Amino acid sequence: MSNESLANLLKEERRFAPPAELAAAANVTAEAYEQAKADRLGFWAEQARRLAWATEPTETLDWSNPPFAKWFADGKLNVAYNCVDRHVEAGNGDRVAIHFEGEPGDSRAITYAELKDEVGRAANALTELGVQKGDRVAVYLPMIPEAVVAMLACARIGAAHSVVFGGFSADAIAARIKDADAKVVITSDGGYRRGKPSALKPAVDEAVSRVDGVRHVLVVQRTKQDVAWTEGRDVWWHEITRKQSAEHTPEAFDAEHPLFILYTSGTTGKPKGILHTSGGYLTQAAYTHHAVFDLKPETDVYWCTADIGWVTGHSYITYGPLANGATQVMYEGTPDTPHQGRFWEIIQKYEVSILYTAPTAIRTFMKWGDDIPAKFDLSSLRVLGSVGEPINPEAWIWYRKNIGGDRCPIVDTWWQTETGAMMISPLPGVTETKPGSAQRALPGISATVVDDEANEVPDGGGGYLVLTEPWPSMLRTIWGDDQRFIDTYWSRFEGKYFAGDGAKKDEDGDIWLLGRVDDVMLVSGHNISTTEVESALVSHPAVAEAAVVGAADETTGQAIVAFVILRGTANAEDEGLVADLRNHVGATLGPIAKPKRVLPVAELPKTRSGKIMRRLLRDVAENRELGDVTTLTDSSVMDLIQTKLPAAPSED
Ligand code: WT7
Repeated sequence: MSNESLANLLKEERRFAPPAELAAAANVTAEAYEQAKADRLGFWAEQARRLAWATEPTETLDWSNPPFAKWFADGKLNVAYNCVDRHVEAGNGDRVAIHFEGEPGDSRAITYAELKDEVGRAANALTELGVQKGDRVAVYLPMIPEAVVAMLACARIGAAHSVVFGGFSADAIAARIKDADAKVVITSDGGYRRGKPSALKPAVDEAVSRVDGVRHVLVVQRTKQDVAWTEGRDVWWHEITRKQSAEHTPEAFDAEHPLFILYTSGTTGKPKGILHTSGGYLTQAAYTHHAVFDLKPETDVYWCTADIGWVTGHSYITYGPLANGATQVMYEGTPDTPHQGRFWEIIQKYEVSILYTAPTAIRTFMKWGDDIPAKFDLSSLRVLGSVGEPINPEAWIWYRKNIGGDRCPIVDTWWQTETGAMMISPLPGVTETKPGSAQRALPGISATVVDDEANEVPDGGGGYLVLTEPWPSMLRTIWGDDQRFIDTYWSRFEGKYFAGDGAKKDEDGDIWLLGRVDDVMLVSGHNISTTEVESALVSHPAVAEAAVVGAADETTGQAIVAFVILRGTANAEDEGLVADLRNHVGATLGPIAKPKRVLPVAELPKTRSGKIMRRLLRDVAENRELGDVTTLTDSSVMDLIQTKLPAAPSED
């Protein structure tokens, strides 16, 4: 971005009050903001007491050596004990922890008592394989309960896990094993995806052959596919765990003991091993899950559709929900197998009351059509969540109406792998929500928007999102690279964490996320956010999804080029539609934001976690050779898009 702050073009007037019934019984009320404002550290100390500590912390925050924080440093706890045993001890052993739904339709309910036994056996098995406190274990598994068990077993014995998304290649696994020096890899024969067994172990075999130091590969049997076997190294999960005692005495570790490393690639560059530790991380994961979803563990059925390989799966499948004693659904497969109503069928079957999913999924459901969710009974739902990208106001409205029956509040939760847990979000019993806005920093969190010179922008202004105070679940460093940690996050603005996102404040001071600053477009001297133009396109009834980029332009510096996916009923060949879409953006945001070109496409390039890769679209729009495509889900998408390009540019 240049000196000018980010333009604020989009006006959104719709407002939705919290449902009265939910507000009356909400876990967290407006008072929490006051309390945290008056005594931020006292507030977090109180949230830490929601956990069971072997040694209660007396210190809350040590910020004597910024940006290296220590939270609850003299406390000791066992994270797995907090997520499992204590619920059994409290008499809730018969409560279902996980309703597992396999893609082929098999299902399994696991109670907290059963989970405790499985975690105990797995912890004993890892110990037998030589894993000790302080070691690292790589996990490369499909979305099956053993993924959660494996993470908790590591936590239980004080080994840090490094979960690698099951869609990543042998290269990616090898790089992560090497960087973290993992001793053991936990994988499976395969998992089910799009109606077929898909192998996982071959990628691990390949990766392990290229690195030193892996002593054992522990293999869960899921698909019963044939697997290559290295005697002495490979061990079947079911064989070794069967021999173990279910009893395992959890050791209490320091609050700052490493819990996990999770690699984040950004769009290019060497992946960064984001390090999270125990006490502060669990405090904020559990508190935000309780507050933002208003979780009532006795009655709610919660479902987060993320993969365990992303931070959302770590914080809001494994640690937050289990620390809170939640009953949750875990689904192995894709949303369109065997049919496009699979998600809604699952909600109906388990009477899911809280759903947490991503804008990319919501826009896909919009494209598939309203009639699909309409066939299912979704009346059990009471809170809806969104995470991963800015949610376009029109996608938000679609979600509210077609999934939430116009009655469920939507919580648009902003956070990152690095923040560990939610930072900016409405509270469902407090906030009057605005479609497209994450709104306010949660109680105990300090976020604002600044300009180039680090001055806070006034209400109505746009700029850079920064976090101004340390928070319990913050990353502690980049594994093995403290300097990169400082350079990446703490150097742009003195004393502040810079998240890499553009944002604006509206007239009420509410925060709207505007996309990654690397993607901001500079058109005739104005910094225009991709998010606002995309949202304007999605507000046209013919558009389900849009991605815009700035392409070099002789007259305006950059010109806006838009790639759009149309809704089921719209016709891509309709010449009038393109003109209509350009005019629609001009009318919504002003002439400056009117795209020069609009290209209807069938798919958009996305990362494996569903984020649009605008960098590649920029390459296409500027007729350059494509950059690094290794993080792309489906590289054939780019071939399809490139064939669109010879089309004549639209004229004004
Ligand atoms: C980036 C972090 C948070 C877990 C999943 C992604 C974008 C995330 C929102 C939101 C606008 C969002 C940001 C952020 N993002 N949530 N509610 N509104 N943008 O974790 O892969 O580390 O990505 O995702 O750009 O910086 P991640």
